[in-house]
Amino acid sequence: MPVIAIDGPVASGKGTLARRLAEALNLAYLDTGSLYRAVASCILERGSDPDDSILAAKVADTLTAEDLDRDDIRDEIVGQGASIVAANQEVRKALLEFQRNFAKTPPDGHLGAILDGRDIGTVVCPDAEIKLFISATPEVRALRRHKELLERGEESIYARVLEDLRERDQRDRNRDTAPLRAAEDAVILDTSDMDADKAFKVARQLIKERLSL
Ligand code: CDP
Ligand code: CDP
Repeated sequence: MPVIAIDGPVASGKGTLARRLAEALNLAYLDTGSLYRAVASCILERGSDPDDSILAAKVADTLTAEDLDRDDIRDEIVGQGASIVAANQEVRKALLEFQRNFAKTPPDGHLGAILDGRDIGTVVCPDAEIKLFISATPEVRALRRHKELLERGEESIYARVLEDLRERDQRDRNRDTAPLRAAEDAVILDTSDMDADKAFKVARQLIKERLSL
């Protein structure tokens, strides 16, 4: 069963692209960022600190499917917390098997799996048939996230979004375990000047050429 790995920094458009490809190609989709976000959300709810590595490892070990649907999962504070717990080696270890099983045995009826995150092509699915690394300038990505927040009716200040995004990128790129980077065999797609439709078309064509899917 084919596996497609999509990695990239904050608001590069990897989730939007992965979701659209999953639907078009009948692939099961896993947003792996939601696992790290769920761990952070559980910790913040208790009033604890995502830096508490023993607690974070325990929460990751006992994470349930319902935790992935928590109300605050998309909040930026949870995103920041996610990038803190994601630097914890024990947390990553606890979440790895679930991700690999999903890729190997996608839920019924699907022709394969598509996973998005930071380390799918490098660590979770190094043998993936297709690896895409989605990028865009920090300014473009911050504007996308800013617009999304405003569309959701939330308050947002562009400069603050940009600052948070740079902080999270930096933490994700510089951690020791599974840092954010493109796999050597990944195709890099700079979407700075592409809308979501264009990015989908380019990715779709590449998959057609490589996988005849
Ligand atoms: O998953 P990730 O954080 O990488 O980004 P996303 O949540 O999929 O996308 C962030 C926003 O950028 C969404 O509102 C998309 O509509 C928009 N967008 C995109 O996904 N792809 C582009 N090439 C341009 C914009
Ligand atoms: O959608 P957005 O780009 O804002 O973030 P996300 O994909 O939901 O991921 C939240 C955080 O989880 C990231 O900043 C990473 O620190 C971490 N993460 C990771 O380390 N490895 C993954 N495979 C996915 C997410």
